[in-house]
Amino acid sequence: MERLNFETPSISRKTDAIEYIDEFREYGSDINGSGGLDRFTGDYEGWLLKLEADRNRIPDEKRSPGETYFLVRQSDKRIVGMINIRYVLNERLKKYGGNIGYSIRPTERRKGYNKINLYLALKLCQLHGVKKVLLDANTDNPASWKTIEALGGAMLREYFDDEFDHCMVRDYEIDVDASLERFSKIYEPMVAKI
Ligand SMILES: CC(C)(COP(=O)(O)OP(=O)(O)OC[C@H]1O[C@@H](n2cnc3c(N)ncnc32)[C@H](O)[C@@H]1OP(=O)(O)O)[C@@H](O)C(=O)NCCC(=O)NCCS
Repeated sequence: MERLNFETPSISRKTDAIEYIDEFREYGSDINGSGGLDRFTGDYEGWLLKLEADRNRIPDEKRSPGETYFLVRQSDKRIVGMINIRYVLNERLKKYGGNIGYSIRPTERRKGYNKINLYLALKLCQLHGVKKVLLDANTDNPASWKTIEALGGAMLREYFDDEFDHCMVRDYEIDVDASLERFSKIYEPMVAKI
């Protein structure tokens, strides 16, 4: 069984990180949860500084503090996914985006990796005292809302978003403690011990 864990981005991953984003471009895929790495492939060092600033942001209506991680497979240390976690939400994020954004690289999809990605994020949310996690997913993105439902997400509403994405969107809430209690037996064996 493959085991995965989060890794904090560092300079040693420069080439791997750029290759990760290049793969999304090659496959014409949406990029989410990258902490803006797709805008910084020419300035990886600048992106690391941005992540530091993101981490220490004072929440306001424009920005919210957040952490970005690589999801790494233990067997070959490949970056298979990324995730951006916002422990504090402003009104804008409550309405659009929620606590978590994620992606799995196109060549590693449909292996259950995003469910582990979300499971690991819920563990960190619990450590930060976050009781309820809000997430949204476009209705035409079943890979995203099935991930959320697989971790016990309850749909709050489905509506037409005429402000941001201009499509049908589903808002979900996950009760962090209840989800971890219910799903840790399944996902804990897939987490690499570091
Ligand atoms: C959304 C995304 C992260 C899913 O990653 P993944 O590793 O393939 O997902 P998993 O393998 O963990 O599968 C999660 C669930 O979605 C289902 N699923 C995965 N891909 C699917 C697809 N193309 N169509 C339908 N269902 C799909 C899986 O069967 C699983 O559901 P199940 O538990 O009921 O079987 C990935 O497709 C991605 O990076 N997309 C681009 C970025 C994006 O859309 N991010 C989400 C917006 S924040």
